Amino acid sequence: MSNEISGKPEELVVVLDFGAQYGQLIARRIRECHVYCEIIPHDMPTAEILARRPKGIVLSGGPSSVYEEGAPLCDPALFEAGIPVLGICYGMQLMAKLLGGEVKGGARREFGKTELTVLHDGDIFQGLNPRLIAWMSHGDRVERVPPGFIETARTAHALAAMSDPRRRLFGVQFHPEVVHTPWGDEVFRSFLYQQCGCRESWTPRSVITSAVSAIKEQVGPGKVVCALSGGVDSAVTAALVHRAIGEQLTCVFMDHGFLRKGEAEQVVETFAGNFHVNLIHVQAQERFVRRLQGVVDPEQKRRIIGEEYANVLEEEARKLGDAEFLAQGTLYPDVIESGTRQAARIKTHHNVAGLPETLKLELVEPVRYLFKDEVRAVGEELGLPAEIVWRHPFPGPGLAIRVVGEVTPERLDTLRVADDIIIDEIMAAGLYRRLFQCFGVLAPIKSVGVMGDQRTYGSTIVLRAVTSDDAMTADWAQLPYEVLSRISTRIMNEVSGVNRVVYDISSKPPATIEWE
Ligand code: XMP
Repeated sequence: MSNEISGKPEELVVVLDFGAQYGQLIARRIRECHVYCEIIPHDMPTAEILARRPKGIVLSGGPSSVYEEGAPLCDPALFEAGIPVLGICYGMQLMAKLLGGEVKGGARREFGKTELTVLHDGDIFQGLNPRLIAWMSHGDRVERVPPGFIETARTAHALAAMSDPRRRLFGVQFHPEVVHTPWGDEVFRSFLYQQCGCRESWTPRSVITSAVSAIKEQVGPGKVVCALSGGVDSAVTAALVHRAIGEQLTCVFMDHGFLRKGEAEQVVETFAGNFHVNLIHVQAQERFVRRLQGVVDPEQKRRIIGEEYANVLEEEARKLGDAEFLAQGTLYPDVIESGTRQAARIKTHHNVAGLPETLKLELVEPVRYLFKDEVRAVGEELGLPAEIVWRHPFPGPGLAIRVVGEVTPERLDTLRVADDIIIDEIMAAGLYRRLFQCFGVLAPIKSVGVMGDQRTYGSTIVLRAVTSDDAMTADWAQLPYEVLSRISTRIMNEVSGVNRVVYDISSKPPATIEWE
């Protein structure tokens, strides 16, 4: 069961998604202007769109050609609703076609950084230089603007922007949402503030206020369970629910034995110690390790851990008896993904913060409209410690899928100590926030070494450090040699049984971030 009570602010801008590669980026840029924005499917019925009373509409880019059969369309009535519209790339071409202009397949594609000249510096180009560099990615172009429109910018080869100031309709062929269009924010700001009349109403504080009142309204006097994982999403979820309903919330934090060093203490201290949240700290280490005995297959490990996690949580929730709600840290990208796209299953990513459906708990998802960076901003505003707010993503099955091969308490300990050294050195070098993830992996390889004239036959730690925006793709981080050297020396000196450290220089794809 999902809820639609979300505490969304009153001022809304919608992005109609035509299959854009950069759809989420558009929404993020708009929200960075402190205006709340949602991505909706391009074929949502017009009445439904208008019922949301958007202050502005953005038509995204997309891979199709407007004159192709089956090209995604929108209802031309949207242009007559008195709501300002900004069409981006495909969105501009669609606007041109539907309103009586002409769109053609370009003989010359424009791709990458392209110079454009502003012909009309009013409306969305207000205050900008007459010559600008923009990011383009298109084959088709608008050949003739529709009646009522003027050309507002051109490149050497094509129309770059058009507008109908009377109806407040704007089209840009370039992508204002990408970083390669550095003044793109100005375009959004002019559109949002001047044309749509939006105010800067989307801030961490306003998110908290509206989430808190929405939670109160949804839950009433009911009891809520929240599974804490140690990560930022569930932490912010719990803190919001706690602020809304206090004692009615019980958090369950399970130590499955695969946590990083100090993680359990940190969570307990923050939630039980500082926030005085009802917290059940389940010590389930033995159960998990026992079930993993002799298991080496990664998918089997994940299945067993997911199953056991659900069992333990179910037991704990039943003990609580009268809980009706489950608070869960679902994020906006998951909401969009599950609504629109089907990705191939590469790994079984158990949502281990979830409970089995048999429990019939209603979901409370206060961060389901937030991007990760917004969750972090809300976490800071709520006063959560930086260690939790800025913690790198950590897989539900934890260190168990970073101990390649059999998971034993000894091998977990080895990895935990090595991993702690890695994080410590990365933080000391001031690199932690610049990386998407960095961690150690215990490889199932032993190799020969020498220590104090003695032959050793020891374990191998792999260092993995990646940069990424969304974990869909990732690159190995080009860490400074001095940092690599310090990590390697410390691990070999301080972690008993390890005599070799290697650095993983694989990007995703074709590798994945985790080793299992
Ligand atoms: P991969 O290894 O597929 O990981 O490149 C992509 C991102 O997902 C995280 N990950 C998980 N997160 N449960 C989770 O909640 C899981 O089972 C899981 N497996 C991988 C991984 O750390 C990376 O950020």
